[in-house]
Amino acid sequence: MTQTVTVRVPAKVNVQLAVGGARPDGFHDLANVFLAVGLYDEVSVTPADELRVTCEGPDAAQVPLDRTNLAARAALELARRYGLDPAVHLHITKDIPVAGGMAGGSADGAGALLACDTLWGTNASREELLDICAELGSDVPFSLVGGAALGTGRGEMLRPLEVGGTFHWVFAMAERGLSTPAVFREFDRMNEGLRVPEPVASQDLLDALAKGDAGALARTVSNDLQPAALSLFPELAGTLAAGRAAGALAALVSGSGPTTAHLAPDEETARTIGRELLASGTCRTVRVTRSPAPGATVLG
Ligand code: C5P
Repeated sequence: MTQTVTVRVPAKVNVQLAVGGARPDGFHDLANVFLAVGLYDEVSVTPADELRVTCEGPDAAQVPLDRTNLAARAALELARRYGLDPAVHLHITKDIPVAGGMAGGSADGAGALLACDTLWGTNASREELLDICAELGSDVPFSLVGGAALGTGRGEMLRPLEVGGTFHWVFAMAERGLSTPAVFREFDRMNEGLRVPEPVASQDLLDALAKGDAGALARTVSNDLQPAALSLFPELAGTLAAGRAAGALAALVSGSGPTTAHLAPDEETARTIGRELLASGTCRTVRVTRSPAPGATVLG
């Protein structure tokens, strides 16, 4: 019998993304408040003759299937550390938008890592898994842990956060993707010659999360990458306006974009906002979902 392990991993939205100036290593210090949302990729791993990646889903054609895929890199790194042969078939069932600012690639990295650890019985500690995740990318550790967390450093150093209720969201997917490095470069260009303040988490925002208060969260959400994303993708302003007009308490670009996140007061209003956003013609598709969501989870 062929053994397969499947792991489910959530997307994220950044309810606060405070970005500092460019560091000597090219990265930016962040105060990054991650919230996992109920949109998931699944990563399955099966023993095979050699390392292979396949992908299915509406955006599958845009997913690289070579060793640059974070799922492949996760398998290679775990195998290297434990002296194993990384001969596995990694299959990604993709529901998180590609190049969308919702950590879809990071989710696949975290999912593959947990799936391989389970398949191979390596039993790596949580600490080692998080260490490998941080090597793979700034958002990958959060994809493993889920829930809500404050990420500092380049976003990889996590402190779990309390969430006191359910938040309802509508995500509007755009016609094309945005490259995260390109958005950070645009951020640097727009801030050239200016003093960029140290990124600090907003205590009011952390309190709103802890209380589960959507109105208070809406008043405190912020994304320092939003002006850069709008500069590269000006049509997103129309999507944000359409979401607000439809009843969203707040509308913001998710991470480096171009997906936009619309916070609703309740589930019914979220469905209305979703319908109106789609009818507005300002986005490709919409998804109505909630947060927080659990991190990477072995399904079997
Ligand atoms: O860490 P990750 O590989 O996901 O980052 C992708 C790119 O995003 C980096 O190469 C860098 O250009 C930019 N980035 C950044 N500062 C961060 C995180 C990402 O400049 N804190």
